[in-house]
Amino acid sequence: MFDADFIANPYPTYAKLREGAPIHWFTQFGNGTWLIPTYEGVSTALQDPRLSSKRTHRLVEQYPPEQQSQLSDFRDQFAKWLVFLDPPRHSLWRRVINKCFLPAMIAAAHPRISALVNRLIDRHAAERKMDFIEDFARPLPAITMVELLGVDAAEREEVIGWTDDIANFFGNANSPIEVANAAQSALRSLIERFKHMLEVRSADPRDDLLTLLLQAWEEGDDFATLDELAAQCCALLFAGHETTRMLLGNGLLALINNPEQFALLKGNPSLIPGAVKEFARFDAPVQLNSRVVATPFEMYGRELKQGQIVTAMLGSAQRDPRAFADPDRLDVTRRGSPSLSFGKGAHYCIGAALASLEVETAFGAIIERMPNVKLATPEIKWVGNIYFRGLRSLPVEF
Ligand code: HEM
Repeated sequence: MFDADFIANPYPTYAKLREGAPIHWFTQFGNGTWLIPTYEGVSTALQDPRLSSKRTHRLVEQYPPEQQSQLSDFRDQFAKWLVFLDPPRHSLWRRVINKCFLPAMIAAAHPRISALVNRLIDRHAAERKMDFIEDFARPLPAITMVELLGVDAAEREEVIGWTDDIANFFGNANSPIEVANAAQSALRSLIERFKHMLEVRSADPRDDLLTLLLQAWEEGDDFATLDELAAQCCALLFAGHETTRMLLGNGLLALINNPEQFALLKGNPSLIPGAVKEFARFDAPVQLNSRVVATPFEMYGRELKQGQIVTAMLGSAQRDPRAFADPDRLDVTRRGSPSLSFGKGAHYCIGAALASLEVETAFGAIIERMPNVKLATPEIKWVGNIYFRGLRSLPVEF
């Protein structure tokens, strides 16, 4: 099922799954998984406390046992990330990190993001062409996040490079072991660097996210170590990198393919926030989200057994006609069911407001400075990953 045609366009397969049943046992996926393709099912599953987020053992199970043991450090580090925790530890960390993502703090980042967006377009303003992914969508979220965290300018390229090595591992299904090893060593380097930066902030607080995180962690009554805080910093840096890049690329491609919607947006830029939600619904960066059955239960008449994997199909849920009228149509004025692009429930994306601000700012500038943007090649290549949907490259002229 998950072949090259699926990567190019997963939506017909999703439609068949939704029409078939609200839940399917699918064997050609690790040791098997429950697939949940409907809006109602995904929304329910993501809020069900009987499903656990502790799933990092799955990250390395594609490798033979001797290679898995080489990657144990990698797996254990990931296991500390907020997104892979369950309550009560998840709630403790969420409280700490939430304090650093308050709406006013995100809004304060707007001038910096806007300046960066314009700088990235300036670099290509003379030749009027760029690879939108490599030249714009990749650097925008990466630089935004390192700047917000407070990584010194001289260290930014190195830190972004490590994040790329980790992204390479997540970005490709069946990554060769060398890619996994490179990601493991990048993660180790990142954690060491963040630990050092946090120690520096402890003696010399600054006006940055690392200082805020440190202060919020210190108020948390010793529930976690500095190592774990450094792991959360890596998680924050990484989580917003791939996903935001994909939303930028998927959004621009959707507009180029739907010129009447592009015209609507150009005529009325106040539609941009709604349009960004629609891009995320139409071609969601996070297509699949898994959980592990912690307590057995019945869902849609099927027995979910302890330890089984459940795959909530976000990308399918958002094309469910029971939740969105005419779901395969891009409609930048769409209203309707809340989007599931940023998840739902306790693990709802902590960076959703930041990502939306980045993408809204980007499209504001695209409309103004690249209003006639078009594809420079008819060939569109998607990243070969069924979990994340995004473009490898998007050469454009403008
Ligand atoms: C378009 C961009 C983004 C998309 C589509 C996206 C999507 C998601 C989704 C679907 C989840 C839920 C995962 C789950 O339920 O297992 C999530 C969680 C998370 N996201 Fe994002 N994200 C984006 C940007 C960001 C940014 C910019 C940041 C960082 C500033 C970020 C940080 C996180 C974190 C830390 C979590 C874990 C929250 C928790 O477990 O409580 N994300 N994201």
